[in-house]
Amino acid sequence: MTAAHKIPVGVLISGLGNNLQALLDASSAESFPARIVLVISNIEHAGGLARASAAGVPVQIITHKGKTREVFDAQVDAALRDAGVELVCLAGFMRILSDGFVRAWESKVINIHPSLLPAYRGTRVHERVLEAGEKQSGASVHFVVPELDAGPVIAQAPVPVLATDTPETLAARVLEAELRLYPTALRLVCEGRVKLENGAAVTT
Ligand code: GAR
Repeated sequence: MTAAHKIPVGVLISGLGNNLQALLDASSAESFPARIVLVISNIEHAGGLARASAAGVPVQIITHKGKTREVFDAQVDAALRDAGVELVCLAGFMRILSDGFVRAWESKVINIHPSLLPAYRGTRVHERVLEAGEKQSGASVHFVVPELDAGPVIAQAPVPVLATDTPETLAARVLEAELRLYPTALRLVCEGRVKLENGAAVTT
């Protein structure tokens, strides 16, 4: 697939960027239907920034500090539009996007979350999974809607929870699953095989 036929994707990060790396690696394949044209971090020293730069992808740091959510989101929106982004991947992006942003980008923002949604939305996921004695956890990629982690699921990957798990060991096992899942889910969306229609994820 030539670059012109690939969907231009923007990735928003706040941290280490393991998921970003998985998307960068996948998109370097000629047959992958997306190319990452911009990485935005709200955190100045996020580890993922170096990963983007190493892959030759432009980066922007847009800090949220001292701004209203609306001003921050407007700056992110402008940067994405300037870069020609058509689809946004949240990859460890730890900010809640305003309703206005989500509506403006409806069906064009996807997120990865380290649980089998709709279970365990929000934070402290692995701690809560272990506290509840779950035998299974996993990762989900979903369309972003105004309500946090509540959007229709595009794809999921289960992992076992072991009796010996700590939040850290469980997080590492879920992350491994995330790294396989996110490129798969991005491909499904870019190829139009999963779409957001009337508030549901529809597979064609
Ligand atoms: C990932 O586990 C991702 O699912 C989670 O943050 C981690 C980021 O890791 N995201 C959320 O919790 C979003 N609510 P990474 O920066 O190394 O990809």
